Amino acid sequence: MEKKKVLIAYGTRYGATTSTAEELAKVLRDEGFEVKVVNLKKEKVKDITEYELIIIGSGIKMNMWTSKAKAFLNKFSPELKNKKVAIFVSSGGRALMEYKGEHDEISRITKKYLEDQASKYDLNPISMTMFGGIWDFNQMGKIYRKILDSEKENFAPAGFKETEPGVYDSRNWDEIRKWAKELVSKIYNNPI
Ligand SMILES: Cc1cc2nc3c(=O)[nH]c(=O)nc-3n(C[C@H](O)[C@H](O)[C@H](O)COP(=O)(O)O)c2cc1C
Repeated sequence: MEKKKVLIAYGTRYGATTSTAEELAKVLRDEGFEVKVVNLKKEKVKDITEYELIIIGSGIKMNMWTSKAKAFLNKFSPELKNKKVAIFVSSGGRALMEYKGEHDEISRITKKYLEDQASKYDLNPISMTMFGGIWDFNQMGKIYRKILDSEKENFAPAGFKETEPGVYDSRNWDEIRKWAKELVSKIYNNPI
């Protein structure tokens, strides 16, 4: 039997969304899907008709999606309305907010980064989620570094790991793998 196909199309600025997308792909391949992963900065998607599920991912900077991921939604939104769609974003801010107990702020940004984007393009995704991200002090501008320097003491208790010198990663890989597995059951339980 031919394998069902999944497209993971994403935009990234600092690279976190790339490795998150790769991990999602790994789980979905293990579950028997054929998965194409596209970094929208490097490759264009011409056609989405062959895909059973389309996962769109974006890093967040100053509350904004990447322009490439937004352009993808813009271009394909008429077709995406009739497809199974899932959305994730990579957020460096989430873990810090969770650690500080800023639950109202988390609800606000979840709506802004996910629900508002979906409704802007009139999509009804089978799942949407916000994963962690990275703070890379080697790539950061001066102003942000100053702001983040004052947060550094919160990094370890908030669950960030220094994966390379100056790179702090708040992603929870179990959470990422779990989401991918949940998508599989949602693919089969969704009528589209
Ligand atoms: C200048 C700058 C602005 C950022 N703004 C936000 C933000 O508004 N909200 C947030 O959750 N994370 C923010 N972050 C953290 C990013 O979400 C994090 O770096 C994430 O890994 C971005 O995804 P990417 O690595 O795929 O580009 C910001 C990071 C930088 C360097």
